[in-house]
Amino acid sequence: MSEFHSKIKTIEWCKTNDGGYSLMVDQTKIPYSFEKVEIKTLNSMYDAIKTMIVRGAPAIGIAGAHGCALYALELLSKHSLSNPHDGDFWQNTPEQDIANDKKEEFIKKLLEGFEYLNSSRPTAVNLSWAIEKQKEIVQNSKNLSAGMLCKNLIKNAIKLENEDIEINKRIGDYGAEIIPKGAGILTHCNAGALATVGYGTALGVVRSAFAKDNTVQVFADETRPRGQGAKITTFELVQDGIPVTLITDGMCSYFMRNKMIDVVVVGADRIAANGDTANKIGTSTVAIAAKYYNIPFYIAAPKSTIDLSIQSGNDIVIELRDEEEVTMVNGKRICAEGVKIINPSFDVTDNTLIAGIITEDGIFKPSELSSKLKK
Ligand code: MRU
Repeated sequence: MSEFHSKIKTIEWCKTNDGGYSLMVDQTKIPYSFEKVEIKTLNSMYDAIKTMIVRGAPAIGIAGAHGCALYALELLSKHSLSNPHDGDFWQNTPEQDIANDKKEEFIKKLLEGFEYLNSSRPTAVNLSWAIEKQKEIVQNSKNLSAGMLCKNLIKNAIKLENEDIEINKRIGDYGAEIIPKGAGILTHCNAGALATVGYGTALGVVRSAFAKDNTVQVFADETRPRGQGAKITTFELVQDGIPVTLITDGMCSYFMRNKMIDVVVVGADRIAANGDTANKIGTSTVAIAAKYYNIPFYIAAPKSTIDLSIQSGNDIVIELRDEEEVTMVNGKRICAEGVKIINPSFDVTDNTLIAGIITEDGIFKPSELSSKLKK
């Protein structure tokens, strides 16, 4: 087994003498090629999230944290009193500052940049969660030099990055407990190493289950319109030598009826206080079929995906994406000109369809979330 997931980081901060940049796998190229891109500005991070070079709720969150740090570096290099390219950022940072009367404006601009980044994709709460964490750093570093503020934002982004992998391994360990021996596991979209910094949430559960019992196997929904299941989930499972069968989105009840699916595990983009869960479009159809066939349906997600500020799935904003994602396949139009298109990127699965939510702190019933997770 090549253990692809332990060799790559989907997104990581690369330190340089200027402070650094974000390095990420370009997911729009998989499975045709495996390339990394360097992201160095707020605007290019916004575009990377919007165009889904980086995707998957936890990975988007880390991209948000990186984007905040990149913007702070951009503003520092514009307004610094000293030449920001003089010497090593990591050595000189504590002294590097901007004029006192410009400090307030610097913070104001910085926070406006954070808001702009937050508007790149609306559904995955991990983005605003990570940006909130960076706002706390700004708040706590207000009285320090601008250089120190930048340094703290970068350090926090790296911390969140490292924690993500640890959290996913814990989700994997808890989740492996509910996977029956030799199970057929159905998953939808990609909640794998490539949707996180590493290891994955739903595919983290698969990885931990497979490490204990190599007779488990995965059924991966294709996941139209963008095909994350076909392109990304099969790519990473094949790399890791975990048996995977690709099925198209309409096939799930065939495999359920024929007793080839024992459990469903998917990721999440936002979980409301009552356990209603937004995930990739098509997820709720799978959950409804699973209920009919009495197959347990689980969500695997870090606590950062749980949004206790909203009561139910009715309050979740669902991203509507470009109609070309539906009308075009591999650059070719697949339908008549003039047809009407609506392209919601996510749907909400009712809490009544969910057997449990697998987090880094254990597995909770939807009804337990607000009481068990409140600070
Ligand atoms: O539009 P995407 O590809 O970002 O959507 C991804 C999903 O819906 C995932 O299932 C979810 O973000 C969880 S990833 C661990």
